[in-house]
Amino acid sequence: MAGWSAWQYIVSFIIGAMVYDQVMYIKRKGPIAGPPFKIPFMGPFIQALHPKFDAYLAQWASGPLSCVSVFHKFVVLASDRDLAHKVFKSPAYAEPCIVPIAKDILGHKAWVFLQGKAHAEYRRGLTPLFTNKAMATYLPVHHKVLSDYFDKFVNASKAEQGKPREFMTLFREINCALSCRTFFGDYISQDAVKKIADDFYLATAALELVNVPLSLYVPFTKPCATTWLFQVLAQRPDVLDRLREENLAARGGDKNKGFDLPMLESLTYTQAVIKELLRHRPPVIFVPYLATKDFPVTPEYTVPKGSMIIPSCYPALHDPEVYPHPNTFDPERWITGDAESKTKNWLVFGAGPHDCLARRYVPLTMAGMIGKAALELDWKHHATERSEEIRVFATLFPMVCVPKLPAFVFSLTLN
Ligand code: HEM
Repeated sequence: MAGWSAWQYIVSFIIGAMVYDQVMYIKRKGPIAGPPFKIPFMGPFIQALHPKFDAYLAQWASGPLSCVSVFHKFVVLASDRDLAHKVFKSPAYAEPCIVPIAKDILGHKAWVFLQGKAHAEYRRGLTPLFTNKAMATYLPVHHKVLSDYFDKFVNASKAEQGKPREFMTLFREINCALSCRTFFGDYISQDAVKKIADDFYLATAALELVNVPLSLYVPFTKPCATTWLFQVLAQRPDVLDRLREENLAARGGDKNKGFDLPMLESLTYTQAVIKELLRHRPPVIFVPYLATKDFPVTPEYTVPKGSMIIPSCYPALHDPEVYPHPNTFDPERWITGDAESKTKNWLVFGAGPHDCLARRYVPLTMAGMIGKAALELDWKHHATERSEEIRVFATLFPMVCVPKLPAFVFSLTLN
């Protein structure tokens, strides 16, 4: 090697690094699905910048375990329901990691990263926020927030003379207001609520840029569910009519009566609509975890330490064996069908020690919101060529080409 020029050293180093990267990829991949070779160094980086929902579907379909490698990050996706449960429920091998750089942003000591006893104790401290007794006190607060925002919705629509406009921004804000007023009371000004909603959007957009290789985590779940809820109900007047009827009956014919906890019992159809919505368009399609040590997920395959291992929620919620015609929005499956008994497939809120603390609070909030909207508002969805396309932006949204935001374009009037 004596007498080599600087270029010869550089080229040899690059070739060596490429070979090492490729060999490591093949070794980590083992027998699971995934490309036999990776694009040198970057892998499918370009696709990861603009994640397409169809690409996720293809990835899940490629095998119960599949992999991608982007730059140094090796990622294993578990599409199989039982493997997803195994990952969710193996805290000794894997911990939630939200996005790869989340620890640097939120701080390594943030409670979401706590594990074991410290995590269980912290969680125990939060559970009183979600008891029936606590939740009953939130509903009058929600009633006021919803009233204020429904007025805003109507005024926003009037300002456009009833012409279609995007509502995603307002859906973000109403959900932010619901959370702030529920958990912080009136200590936060209305301007601050709007600023939090806007900044949260910007922070999410920024995280999308650094969130390679896989663009998904848990914020934005509620605006997502709200957007689909309004869109699907506008498209299904039969469902909306039944929902209206049921909510009016539950309020003894007085449409101004506030929603309360005992009322939920009688809202069988509303509850079915919400469950079906969360199944049909789950706000969280998978949850990124990090393998904290070599993790033998199957007898044949061990996820290498330091890799991301991603249990998927969407495939279990769209399994045709469990939910026949899974792409059809059919609330009936929860009433006359057997969907209710398929608890293992109900991965909307994750599973195991980190499962969503708000798994009962979320449907309750949605029932209050959609019941009141059905009784007080009329809305029309103005479909665009891409309304049915799914956009992955932290979670799933209908794709609309209006502004750069995922937008739900509709016009709205008082009922
Ligand atoms: C449609 C709305 C929502 C959906 C679909 C959703 C779903 C999820 C999922 C999939 C996880 C990860 C579970 C796991 O790793 O096993 C999670 C965690 C969590 N969620 Fe939610 N979520 C929603 C709304 C909320 C709301 C409104 C709150 C709070 C008021 C909340 C509080 C939490 C907390 C605290 C965790 C972390 C728990 C832990 O690490 O122990 N979620 N959620």
